[in-house]
Amino acid sequence: MVPTPTRNEEETRLRQALCRVGALCYKKGFIVGTDGNLSVRTAHDTILVTPTGAMKGFLEPHHIAHVDMDGRAIDDGPRASSEIGIHLTSYRERPDMHAVVHTHPPHAVALSIAGIDMQLPLIPEVVVTIGGTPTTPYATPGTHELGDSIRDVVRCSDTLIMKNHGAVTLGSNLLDAFKKLDMIEHTARILWLAHAVKGGIEPLPQEAVKKLLETRRQLGIKTTNTLENQCGL
Ligand code: 13P
Repeated sequence: MVPTPTRNEEETRLRQALCRVGALCYKKGFIVGTDGNLSVRTAHDTILVTPTGAMKGFLEPHHIAHVDMDGRAIDDGPRASSEIGIHLTSYRERPDMHAVVHTHPPHAVALSIAGIDMQLPLIPEVVVTIGGTPTTPYATPGTHELGDSIRDVVRCSDTLIMKNHGAVTLGSNLLDAFKKLDMIEHTARILWLAHAVKGGIEPLPQEAVKKLLETRRQLGIKTTNTLENQCGL
């Protein structure tokens, strides 16, 4: 039997994971400067979150902030992200999720600025897994507006684009949240290229979507899917 990690062991592992995934987001070009914030919920219902104003690609475990489910600091460590509201809203609305990653992936954000919808059914892999990615209305970063602006969508989607701002992805763990972010930006690049070569796109027809959602059921995939639950539609 695998022994249950102690509270300290769990915290050490999660702090290291936040640093590793922050570095990955930077290497992949999803953040620059002091962009973005990442968090994980511990087994004791506290949140380890990246500190405000730091370069999230270059963090070390002692840079991570630790807060309760209301965003209050629970140690003398660094100050939590100014966008902690995104994370608190996500965990409150989705008790099934344990990690939240907010970044500024350029193609996905550019499409939101151009008013191009990423919730359309475009690529089979995406239709079968997350469905699509809804866009939420613009809200001012660093204010309460931000957490409120994502509430309705985060209830029914693991991924979203905050218009003119960035992506938010939720996962069962950090790698799962990163995987969804990677999928969003990859899809956005494909969508961008399709618009560039043709000046318009052809989403998958309804019949093809129906078949893919049926395949999903046959494969026993139970994760949240925005085409299945009609999120934001
Ligand atoms: P924080 O450094 O406070 O998390 O803010 C980063 C950010 O992305 C601002 O939009």
